[in-house]
Amino acid sequence: MLKVGIDIGGTKIAGGVVDADGHIVEKLRVETPIDTADLAQAVIDMANHFIASHDVAAVGVAAAGFIDRDRATVIHAPNIAWHNEPLKAILEAGIPLPVTIENDANAAGWAEFRFGAGRDVNHMVMLTMGTGVGGAVVLEGELYRGGHGIAGELGHTRFTRDGLPCGCGQNGCLEQYASGRALQREANAIADGRADGNDDGIGDALAAVRTQKGTISGPAVSRLVLAGDPGAIEALRRVATALGEACGGFQAVLDPEMFVIGGGVAQLGNDLLEPVRIAYQTSLPGYGDRPVAKFAIAELSNDAGLIGAADLAAVSAVVSTGE
Ligand code: BGC
Ligand code: NA
Ligand code: ZN
Repeated sequence: MLKVGIDIGGTKIAGGVVDADGHIVEKLRVETPIDTADLAQAVIDMANHFIASHDVAAVGVAAAGFIDRDRATVIHAPNIAWHNEPLKAILEAGIPLPVTIENDANAAGWAEFRFGAGRDVNHMVMLTMGTGVGGAVVLEGELYRGGHGIAGELGHTRFTRDGLPCGCGQNGCLEQYASGRALQREANAIADGRADGNDDGIGDALAAVRTQKGTISGPAVSRLVLAGDPGAIEALRRVATALGEACGGFQAVLDPEMFVIGGGVAQLGNDLLEPVRIAYQTSLPGYGDRPVAKFAIAELSNDAGLIGAADLAAVSAVVSTGE
């Protein structure tokens, strides 16, 4: 059975026709419109393009926000202007098939669990490091949704008291310390010569990038990490440490066999995982005595969200409301 999966990202909308084994038959990518009405129309147009040329049973849409238990409404979105947005109804008005809305990190985590890095485990936690920090919790082989559909918002657990303000209305959330944006913020701080209170030149390469390009982008930090630049490596160490420390706490609650790390920052592979593991171990209750989780980089990279959204899409209205 073929289904359409569409992942609404901060910069790109990625969609595809996906088969039952998670393979992509056809794929498309467009820029994400800023206006939410234009955004919905872009998703509708993409879905209809796929439906016109494939025998599709359902459409799954991954979105960066808190999705209700009926998988119909975006209750809240920390980084998009959605408040109780009836996204399923809006999209179904333009698409002649049932549409299921899914949290983007849940979709990506589910894809990794079914077809990617987590395929051999039963208890898995996914964290995505992008604009925000997304989370997915798979327990006993099932995606854990909680009482209202919005479990697994791991990026909005409090990382520090009296911390930075967050798009969710709280402060000190992990998202402010372990996202791609946090990596850029740390890189800027280091470029300013504030790496360790002394201007010891550690931020010179980052400062040069900023002078040349006007900004320090995530990919620019990544390039410098891979080139061995100490300033970029320090910026990465800071966000990796925040993520790893949080994982120690998640281990205490959920005891997963594996953490899978995705999102743009995860392209750094082992340069990211090494400091994450160190911080995880040093903050894990009972370390030395207890079994520890494996850490893996997501295998399906940019396609995970659309593959998971397609796989989780309900094929009829009956399936989407009852179980
Ligand atoms: C949102 C999540 C989303 C994550 C990644 C967070 O700010 O709260 O719903 O999964 O960003 O996009
Ligand atoms: Na989630
Ligand atoms: Zn938050």
